Amino acid sequence: MSGGRLAIFGGKPAVTEKSPPWPYFTDEDIEAVRRGMLKGREDWTWACTAAGGELTERLEREFAEWLGRKYVISTSSGGAALHIACMAAGIQLGDEVITTPFSWGQTSSCILQAGGIPIFADIHPETLTIDPEKIEPLITERTKAIVLVHIGGIPADMDAIMAIAERHDLIVIEDCAQAQGSLYRGRQVGTFGHLGCFSVGSGKNMAVSEGGFIATDDRDLYERALLAGMHPGRLQKEITLKAYRERIDSLIYTYRMNALSAAMALNQLRYVHERNEWRRRNVAKLRELLKGVPGIRPLNLPEHLDPAWHMVHWTFVPEDLPGVTREQYIKALQAEGVPISGSYVGTPIHLRYTFLRKEWWLGKGYPWRANPKGDKIVYRTGDCPVAERRCFEQDIVLGGGAWWRDVTPLLEGIAEAFHKVTAQPQRLREVP
Ligand SMILES: Cc1ncc(COP(=O)(O)O)c(C=O)c1O
Repeated sequence: MSGGRLAIFGGKPAVTEKSPPWPYFTDEDIEAVRRGMLKGREDWTWACTAAGGELTERLEREFAEWLGRKYVISTSSGGAALHIACMAAGIQLGDEVITTPFSWGQTSSCILQAGGIPIFADIHPETLTIDPEKIEPLITERTKAIVLVHIGGIPADMDAIMAIAERHDLIVIEDCAQAQGSLYRGRQVGTFGHLGCFSVGSGKNMAVSEGGFIATDDRDLYERALLAGMHPGRLQKEITLKAYRERIDSLIYTYRMNALSAAMALNQLRYVHERNEWRRRNVAKLRELLKGVPGIRPLNLPEHLDPAWHMVHWTFVPEDLPGVTREQYIKALQAEGVPISGSYVGTPIHLRYTFLRKEWWLGKGYPWRANPKGDKIVYRTGDCPVAERRCFEQDIVLGGGAWWRDVTPLLEGIAEAFHKVTAQPQRLREVP
């Protein structure tokens, strides 16, 4: 256990290793893109995925098999997938949709994009995902759907959520942007809700620059999502339901995946599980190494949740180090070279500008004005106390996505840094 002057006061940092580069494109990824581009010289449909074509069809088939769902659409981003999932779910102007305040904003903005009104249910204090007990009291006759997120890779409580959805005839959309490969009771997330949406953007567990997927087992939802975001060339080939064939036109969002992303995605699908296993092993090892360290504790997750760890949340424990703030603790560790940060979410979503002022792109007042009880929908501090406390006082982020291979020396350095700074609480209190 090392002592010595804290790095924040001019001492030598305890951590000398860095996290591996992320995203990291393998030689095979690069070769897949190169081969495809050469093919594109002879066959223009390789680069133009408008009408679907061989590349997109293969990718969607393989992703569907990889995930265990019937239908998959590849998209330009995770946000695009979420938007057309909300449209497919039939969310109309003024409809209410229950969601979580503890996520990246797009778990909520997809609802607004479809004209819906986000209604925020608080999160569970240990899993940090939407708390099923908080959902049911928020359901009204205008509630259409639930959009949940598996935050940081931690699966939401799918059994309870699906039971509520069934009781109230609601569509469930899973935002799996941070959870590709996470397991709930041994089954992949994205296979529980009516629609599962993924991102393969550059920071995600499978990172192909930009892209996403929607997955479903429901033909009707699949065709509706296609209609919202795909080119008529593809729609002509795939839309089978008569009511939808009549609607084929170019009044669409251009949400198809880029061919370069698709080529990489096909290759990366072969090793995303392997990288996720490393994430799991590294996080388990760090949990061991940090056992008993004052000021921080891991989340207490039930055994049936098996996150693929896009991002690892920990809990700050101020009682262990009286007089030391979370900010002082993090600053001192950062100076030691620990890749640690405070709250990932920052301001909980329900307390952001859009909601405090009820102002979205459609103009001031919309979509709330389109709901007869919209005036009564207000967003205030105290609405979601667990999420608020998590953001403002407790949350610490350390580890995850970038740890896709063995990082033992880095983890040992991190543990040494924690021991070093927590052995000197009086100095920690002086951190500016
Ligand atoms: C939880 C969550 N949802 C949605 C998205 C949006 O994905 P994309 O950046 O591919 O649009 C992200 C991206 O960071 C995310 O973390």
